[in-house]
Amino acid sequence: MTQRRADLSAKLTAIFPAPRAIVWEIGCGHGHFLERYAAKFPLRLCLGVDLASERITRALRKSERGKLLNCHFIRADALDFLHALPKGVTLQEIWVLFPDPWPKKRHHKNRILQPDFFAALAAYAPAEARLYFRTDSIDYFQAVQALLPSLKTWEIPKAEEPWPLEHETVFQARAESYQSLILVRTSHPAKSAEITAPAVPPPEDSRLPA
Ligand SMILES: C[S@@+](CC[C@H](N)C(=O)[O-])C[C@H]1O[C@@H](n2cnc3c(N)ncnc32)[C@H](O)[C@@H]1O
Repeated sequence: MTQRRADLSAKLTAIFPAPRAIVWEIGCGHGHFLERYAAKFPLRLCLGVDLASERITRALRKSERGKLLNCHFIRADALDFLHALPKGVTLQEIWVLFPDPWPKKRHHKNRILQPDFFAALAAYAPAEARLYFRTDSIDYFQAVQALLPSLKTWEIPKAEEPWPLEHETVFQARAESYQSLILVRTSHPAKSAEITAPAVPPPEDSRLPA
């Protein structure tokens, strides 16, 4: 694990040689959303991670075809990514679109959005950073809503905000309906960069169509 994170850190340092704020997508799949986002906001540096290498290969092909210099994809676990983030790189926006729902109760602990993970994100996100979450799992959505009152570092924005970009992801296209949530980073100090969220492989049913 140490070597894996060191290798990832070297790759990230090459992408982000200087401190800066980035837009990060967790579980970017084939990169449909982030590629479109990077095209719409050419001055924002975007990076998508996914555990599945064939999805990242396809995402990379797409951003090369689109000649998007501000759009990067790396095969990585979200938690490893946070550990490997070069000093001074901050998360201005975090996108979590249709994360693996882990529907069985005994698997809920594998869901990425949990209190420890929110705390970990807070350590890298400045006040006013945004987190965009969308899911077709009502159960997952309600679980995230239920933990909001206990979070000090993330809250619902005071006023309604638009979703910065609407672009259907592969899983969104399959969903009958979905729920969306925007969270804003408060100025409450992050506890520490101690990160204990789960690092788990995606379940079989999350496979994207070829
Ligand atoms: C259900 S798919 C959604 C893909 C895409 N966001 C979409 O909406 O079409 C979830 C994706 O998250 C990835 N994933 C799951 N756990 C992850 C983790 N810890 N770090 C990075 N990616 C992860 C999976 O490999 C999978 O591609």
